[in-house]
Amino acid sequence: MYTSEVSADKPRRPMTVPDLRRMKQNGAPIVVLTAYDASMARIADAAGVDLILVGDSLGMVVQGADSTLPVTIDDLIYHCRAVRRGLVHALLIADMPFLSYATNERALDGAARLLMQGGASMVKLEGGSREVLDTIHFLSVRDVPVCAHLGLTPQSVLRLGGYKVQGREQPARLALIEQAHAVVEAGAEALVLECVPASLAQEISAAIAIPTIGIGAGRDCDGQVLVCYDMLGITSGKRPRFVKDFLTGNAGGVRAAIEQFAADVRARSFPGPEHSF
Ligand code: KIV
Repeated sequence: MYTSEVSADKPRRPMTVPDLRRMKQNGAPIVVLTAYDASMARIADAAGVDLILVGDSLGMVVQGADSTLPVTIDDLIYHCRAVRRGLVHALLIADMPFLSYATNERALDGAARLLMQGGASMVKLEGGSREVLDTIHFLSVRDVPVCAHLGLTPQSVLRLGGYKVQGREQPARLALIEQAHAVVEAGAEALVLECVPASLAQEISAAIAIPTIGIGAGRDCDGQVLVCYDMLGITSGKRPRFVKDFLTGNAGGVRAAIEQFAADVRARSFPGPEHSF
């Protein structure tokens, strides 16, 4: 029985890391939302969300920066502690900020703080380079559960020159498939796929044993994540193609909007082709 499989006779229990793989094996879609404070975490948890991500997107949506790069490990810990207090069932994932995993020693120090002070149960790292793979391995063999993140990796914005769909051309597609296998081999427990063609996300999801969590990656991922403000219609600037506003027109308010998001992810009716690449 997983948090997403609620029945009248069995109460939901807290989600664990091994539940993720079991949900994939059972074909149970994983519902993920970002949160940055206790109130949003409490509502999302009560609405049946499986995983809450304290993303470094907080730099943009909470702090008003134009990228995720200024976010610090102290910022992440502050928001994790707040979110943790709002959770009963959902598993808490914390992003590791830009350059906080540039060496294995820094990564271990930061991850330890996110788990021990922030109350996270898993940390997320962007990228699939040899160095990042080594860090995923370094953390996972020390019992730090790791979520990998491939495709559009916002911490690479300076090198990429903007936020663009990744893996459209054949060489980039093959490289992403190779990196997906490599993060599994390195010990990752889950993989976020951001802004990649739906057909590529489908191929990767079918090929690897750990769950994929998509954002702008089509409906065939094992789970879906959105930034909470985006799915509540609070997007500053142009709304990205992969975002759906679940609040506007929903008479039930924020909780009902999140319940609708969860229901649509579980029914695999979100994201539709209009939200995918
Ligand atoms: O920082 C974040 O919120 C993220 C999600 C968009 C996946 O990494």
